[in-house]
Amino acid sequence: MAEENLRFDGRVAVVTGAGAGLGRAYALLLGSRGASVVVNDLGGSRSGDGKSSNVADQVVQEIKSKGGKAVADYNSVIDGEKIIQTALENFGRIDIVVNNAGILRDKSFARISDSDWNLVHDVHLKGAFKTTQAAWPHLRQQKYGRVIFTASNSGLYGNFGQANYSAAKLGLVGLNNTLAIEGRSSNINCNVIVPTAASRLTEDILPPDLYKELKPELIAPVVVWLCHESCQENGSVIESAAGWASKFGVSVQNLSNLRFLYENHPEFSMFPTQAIIPGQMALMSSSLITSAIPGKQFDLSQVLHGEQYLEVYERLPTTGTIKNVCKVIDVLDKGRHAVIIAGVDSYNEDGVKLCYGEMSTFIVNGGGFGGKRTSSKAIEAQDPPSRKPDSSVEAKTSIDQAALYRLSGDTNPLHIDPDFAAIGGFDKPILHGLSTLGTAVRCVLMQFANNNPELFKSVKARFAKPTIPGETLRTDMWREGNRIHFETTAIESNKKVISGKYFHFSC
Ligand code: NAI
Repeated sequence: MAEENLRFDGRVAVVTGAGAGLGRAYALLLGSRGASVVVNDLGGSRSGDGKSSNVADQVVQEIKSKGGKAVADYNSVIDGEKIIQTALENFGRIDIVVNNAGILRDKSFARISDSDWNLVHDVHLKGAFKTTQAAWPHLRQQKYGRVIFTASNSGLYGNFGQANYSAAKLGLVGLNNTLAIEGRSSNINCNVIVPTAASRLTEDILPPDLYKELKPELIAPVVVWLCHESCQENGSVIESAAGWASKFGVSVQNLSNLRFLYENHPEFSMFPTQAIIPGQMALMSSSLITSAIPGKQFDLSQVLHGEQYLEVYERLPTTGTIKNVCKVIDVLDKGRHAVIIAGVDSYNEDGVKLCYGEMSTFIVNGGGFGGKRTSSKAIEAQDPPSRKPDSSVEAKTSIDQAALYRLSGDTNPLHIDPDFAAIGGFDKPILHGLSTLGTAVRCVLMQFANNNPELFKSVKARFAKPTIPGETLRTDMWREGNRIHFETTAIESNKKVISGKYFHFSC
């Protein structure tokens, strides 16, 4: 259904914490689509002190001034039954509960007091319990309801100084999991939103230029869609930011990823960029790289993946033997450092060429041997257009991603051993460039190719900075015909980890 058709006439929605930030955006959108809205807000400070009726009143005024129906409620969510009572008294029913009210009391774990713990848990977890439980018998009786809980990346993945908050936020995911089961037979759908948006809670957390882009109004359509009767989503955790929303991130939750994960899936496929690995392993286990610089010895702690090109010619088999033919294309002297460009042609058992991989390896302190600086033979990376991206997708990497990625065969200790990483000059083990690339290509394939690996033709990427496992990667994409340019930024460090890259479809 087109978004402009979504109406809520006759429906009654409670939005908690609707006086500001995200809740305000949800209340305004629901009100503009015909819902009668209870604008709940205690009007306290960011840490939960004090109260005021102003913020809720202002939002009610805004909704009414545009012809909508709304009433203010100043109760704390801890008295959730009073909020539901406001809905029943003013509008005679309750259909939608958006549990959104929230506060922060950030402290490092050792310094959290009982009151910091209790108030954060009371507002987020107990408040959602009390408000939802008060609505529940009405939803069950009318055999219809939509409930939203608000979690956080900090709950799903952890964040320094937010032990109280992350515990409460993940508690809400557990509450949702069970209510989705208990509510199913009564047509009550329960889902979790994991937002990232500019508000007073994030003004000192998000980088300033990002803050401007992350408008709460860009999350509101996602939440409002989840609240609509035509939305059958139930028991899901939906991450959303800057106009993007996805169950992506916890990969088995997104069923379209199963074809890359489950060997009995009818369309079980190799993920296209996995084709790089056999060639890379063949190269690294040969002496081609280590003997490429005349008179220089170096070890794995000095070796970084600089650039990668892959072109696929045939459907990649899920089993079989691959023959790799490796060659050094060029060796460049960049002054202090060196770059070795090597190519690998990969063939199946029948001698059919499956793919070509070209890898630039950066050798730290490997230069100064008097070689040339540039190559005319290497396949060049290309910068994206200067306009704003056509699409952006965020994906949270797992803190264990490098450890898991090693199972694909690249066992360089740089990615798991802190002492080894320190020798290479890194604070901690870094993620494999190819793992970052795989995450980015998954975003492109999902956005532009319906997750169909058959449409993949080629990719070129430059690894600009290392990703630290656990960072959130934002992949910005620009479509130019059959070519998708893309760049990937680690949000937490605000560093571009992949620059100047593109992806070709075969269609
Ligand atoms: P905000 O501070 O702008 O809005 C929260 C509202 O809740 C405030 O107006 C506040 O007065 C109200 N509130 C606090 N305690 C209350 C209580 N006991 N009863 C009733 N109302 C109460 O913050 P924002 O960012 O809009 O947060 C909304 C929700 O989204 C929160 O649950 C927050 O934890 C969550 N969230 C926000 C993220 C973001 O990027 N902004 C990220 C992850 C989660």
